[in-house]
Amino acid sequence: MSEETAPYGTGPARADQPAAGAAPIKRIRTHHLREMKQRGEKFAMLTAYEQYAAQTFDEAGIEVLLVGDSASNNVFANETSLPVTVDELIPLARAVSRSVRRALVVADLPFGSYQASPEQAYLTAVRFMKEANAHAVKLEGGVEMAPQVRKLTEGGIPVMAHIGFTPQSEHNLGGYRVQGRGDAAKKVVEEALAMEEAGAFAVVMEMVPGDVATEVTDTVTIPTIGIGAGPGCDGQVLVWQDAFGLRTGRMPRFVRQYADLHGVLLQAARDYAADVKAGTFPAEEHTF
Ligand code: KIV
Repeated sequence: MSEETAPYGTGPARADQPAAGAAPIKRIRTHHLREMKQRGEKFAMLTAYEQYAAQTFDEAGIEVLLVGDSASNNVFANETSLPVTVDELIPLARAVSRSVRRALVVADLPFGSYQASPEQAYLTAVRFMKEANAHAVKLEGGVEMAPQVRKLTEGGIPVMAHIGFTPQSEHNLGGYRVQGRGDAAKKVVEEALAMEEAGAFAVVMEMVPGDVATEVTDTVTIPTIGIGAGPGCDGQVLVWQDAFGLRTGRMPRFVRQYADLHGVLLQAARDYAADVKAGTFPAEEHTF
């Protein structure tokens, strides 16, 4: 690479530009997830909101990347997922879909952008498919969202459903609480069945008791994806800043932390600042 090219980054990996000598990469499609469920093979999903994380997770073989509305509180520094807008999420989804070769990219429909009507849902989802090149969209809600799911899938847009605890409804649900305990278990099963019937290709279950999530997984033919729903689901999803320790502080019980990225970044930033102040960076080799 010459000194003048790509000074700040290497640009996006593109699905149509496999690395020299690399085997062709087969893009994950919704039917692959269904086939994995049928074979009893689990799959992994992570959130992603920008280029380098998306490229890294894709390289690691994560099957599904979710441009979650959790960008609201993991990128835009809001307290909840409610304030994030379609216009804020589209550029993030575009960056992620440009950065992957294999992963299925799912874009979350933010609060207020689909609940009003199936038509509103369709127009919002079309924006994510056209402007961000998303491969699918996700929306929250159960039986009451069946018309939205049907409209989208009939219009050619794959839909991932999200039931159990649905963060966009946290004020209605009385905060972050496990859903589906006791008699409410039946409702979770009904919601999953309604989503399958409406055409969803997969269903996320958030903060649902493990035995209920397992019952749903055994009942529906579409893949289930758990977050705080125990080991019985077909796939698992976590917010990447939680899983890899970029975010600090109290974590939900369902998170396992695989790295301490906050610690690594903190030390690196301190080392850099110390070198600058000591005059040891830039050194001879960094100087033209
Ligand atoms: O927005 C999000 O990150 C999510 C997942 C955690 C399921 O909806």
